[in-house]
Amino acid sequence: MQEIIRQLEEKRAAARLGGGEKRIAAQHSKGKLTARERIELFLDDGSFEEWDMFVEHDCTDFGMADQRTPGDGVVTGYGLVNGRPVFVFSQDFTVFGGSLSAAHARKICKIMDQAMKVGVPVIGLNDSGGARIQEGVASLAGYADVFQRNVLASGVVPQISLIMGPCAGGAVYSPAMTDFIFMVKDSSYMFVTGPEVVKTVTNEEVTAEDLGGAITHTTKSGVADLAFENDVEALLQLRRFLGYLPLSNREKPPVRPTDDPADRMDLSLDTLIPDNPNKPYDMKELIVKIADEGEFFELQPGHAGNIVIGFARIDGHPVGIVANQPMVLAGCLDIDSSKKAGRFVRFCDAFNIPIVTLVDVPGFLPGTAQEYNGIIKHGAKLLFAYAEATVPKVTVITRKAYGGAYDVMSSKHLRGDVNYAWPTAEIAVMGPKGAVEIIFRADRDEPEKIEQRTEEYRQKFANPFVAGSLGFIDDVILPHGTRRRVAKALAMLRTKQLENPWKKHDNIPL
Ligand code: HXC
Repeated sequence: MQEIIRQLEEKRAAARLGGGEKRIAAQHSKGKLTARERIELFLDDGSFEEWDMFVEHDCTDFGMADQRTPGDGVVTGYGLVNGRPVFVFSQDFTVFGGSLSAAHARKICKIMDQAMKVGVPVIGLNDSGGARIQEGVASLAGYADVFQRNVLASGVVPQISLIMGPCAGGAVYSPAMTDFIFMVKDSSYMFVTGPEVVKTVTNEEVTAEDLGGAITHTTKSGVADLAFENDVEALLQLRRFLGYLPLSNREKPPVRPTDDPADRMDLSLDTLIPDNPNKPYDMKELIVKIADEGEFFELQPGHAGNIVIGFARIDGHPVGIVANQPMVLAGCLDIDSSKKAGRFVRFCDAFNIPIVTLVDVPGFLPGTAQEYNGIIKHGAKLLFAYAEATVPKVTVITRKAYGGAYDVMSSKHLRGDVNYAWPTAEIAVMGPKGAVEIIFRADRDEPEKIEQRTEEYRQKFANPFVAGSLGFIDDVILPHGTRRRVAKALAMLRTKQLENPWKKHDNIPL
């Protein structure tokens, strides 16, 4: 017995040491924590239950038989975040560069399978050189086993990837299929092919950072949702983020009691909209003024800034916020913003999170760049996402709601439950100027007439009352009371039940 306990302790110590002191020091010198330090910081103190510490790879080629580390480059198990369970895997770069062996993949699959059975999120802390080169196709098979589980878990339990080191080749596709990707600045990157292959094939010279660093993916590509300064910030923010999400699609999101009164007025909102309809204002001001304690967890702030997405709480209950941002491209919908918001709306719908939509949209962005790149299909993603969503949907039109974009942005016609407009709302096919230029083209050389017609059009349509008279908006509300009215609507909708017709799955325009 004594001997067995000694062996156990030895194995545990070997597993904890991973690839050894030297490699741990190298990891630290890059400003990165080790796999275990990350788990420790991420989970509530003492809550981690580790699995498969003794799993070793079974490869015997290339001298691998003598190089076995208990745990084989990934630490897996479950624990608590603010008292709520999560499953987690954390790749250990000190063991073969965190590369994925068949055994490593089996460990990840095991916790994913268990997470599905108990309905708990899966968090991946990724730091890996990709496929374990010595294992060849066995490693590729391991990746595919993980991919398959990512797909089956999608919409059942939240899956979040934190990229904390290299992530290259096909390995990027597991994170890509998870719900959210967070990256760490300067130490993480994601690409399908690295800078050397890029140079060989296309002759482009690019650094790893420019090709797939955190800034690239949170601004240009939109692949990642947020970039953090370092491991510590990323892990602590991930803990905060999980507070908005239910454990699975079988639950409602967690309620956090608040001292912020649901009927709190904010008089400053009455002057948010500028007198000049062409002047922008910051929609985020409205978001933080209606959110509990002014707290808004924004996602993708650096990508497609013309739409704002993120989580907030209203009267303690999490909501997904989607808002046009007049400060960027006048708040137009374009390809990137449609994709960004469409995917977010689908996440909220899958996980029972009500959606609050704040609308100030002059339409879809015109131009060949948009048309050639498929705005028709991409814009349809957002339309489709809103139309299929059955969660509570509350909409507030602050100013412009023109054309097709009016329909798209959670309108009554797409089963918006409660649709409000501010007195400054302009709900019309298009702006007065554009409308008059088309319908009174014959008068175009007579500026006075055009001016008069424009004013006529503005009087008739640049207000919320035509839509109100048709029942397309439920009420015209005063800006300062927006939080109160939205909170009341959401409270009424807590018992909402709505199901779409049975189908194998829909065919969203991908
Ligand atoms: C086995 C690997 C490894 C791998 C790194 N190591 N990647 N071992 N398989 N894929 C080992 C190294 O041999 C080294 O071992 C240790 O990890 C640290 O690696 P370094 O190169 O010293 O670290 P660094 O300089 O930080 O560079 C990290 C790296 C580089 C950029 C990730 O190691 C690298 O380019 N690795 C290969 C990446 C790759 O091509 N992977 C396959 C991609 S294809 P020692 O013993 O010296 O500490 C793929 C297909 C997936 O992933 C398909 C899914 C469908």
